[in-house]
Amino acid sequence: MDVSKMDQEVLFTRGEIQKKVEEMGRRISEDYRDKRLMVISLLKGSFVFTADLIREIKLPLVIEFMITSSYGHSEESSGEVRIIQDVELDVADYDVLLVDDIIDSGNTMMRVHSLLKSRNPKSLRTCTLLDKPSRRRVAFEADYVGFEIPDVFIVGYGLNFGDYYRNMDHVFAFVEKKSENS
Ligand code: IMP
Ligand code: MG
Repeated sequence: MDVSKMDQEVLFTRGEIQKKVEEMGRRISEDYRDKRLMVISLLKGSFVFTADLIREIKLPLVIEFMITSSYGHSEESSGEVRIIQDVELDVADYDVLLVDDIIDSGNTMMRVHSLLKSRNPKSLRTCTLLDKPSRRRVAFEADYVGFEIPDVFIVGYGLNFGDYYRNMDHVFAFVEKKSENS
């Protein structure tokens, strides 16, 4: 994909994302009252979403990070998910909420979910801002989903293309440029 030849089409504005994240935070705050919440953010993609989400969770919580990798610089998941950096605290003491930016093939969430499950957390749920159900290669559904989207490659709000665009405050797709002389 040569992005210099593409237009950017906004899928979700900063305001729309903010509203959704507030809503998700409210639900999580209700569901985890009286629990011992640990939020695990999958880096790098979910760092922006997680930063906003945890500030909408009006409960005490601990935050942990894991780095996984399956994509490299390609747009297609390789299917093999590597754990590059693991959490520090023992998940067995916590009600764990695993957070990612987007579920595509489902490989990443499936892999990390089963790894964490094997460590016997008090409970384990999953949360994603974006979901592409039509792309699934393994059966995996998150407990908290922000937006369902069609099969388009999107960037911004933490999501990258190559090493870039993570800092954009909205979510957009690259689309074919409309011909200028038509
Ligand atoms: P999965 O393992 O195929 O479900 O992919 C999950 C990871 O792939 C996400 O955490 C993202 O980092 C990346 N990913 C999937 N779809 C997109 C996309 O449309 N844009 C940017 N990154 C994506
Ligand atoms: Mg990612």
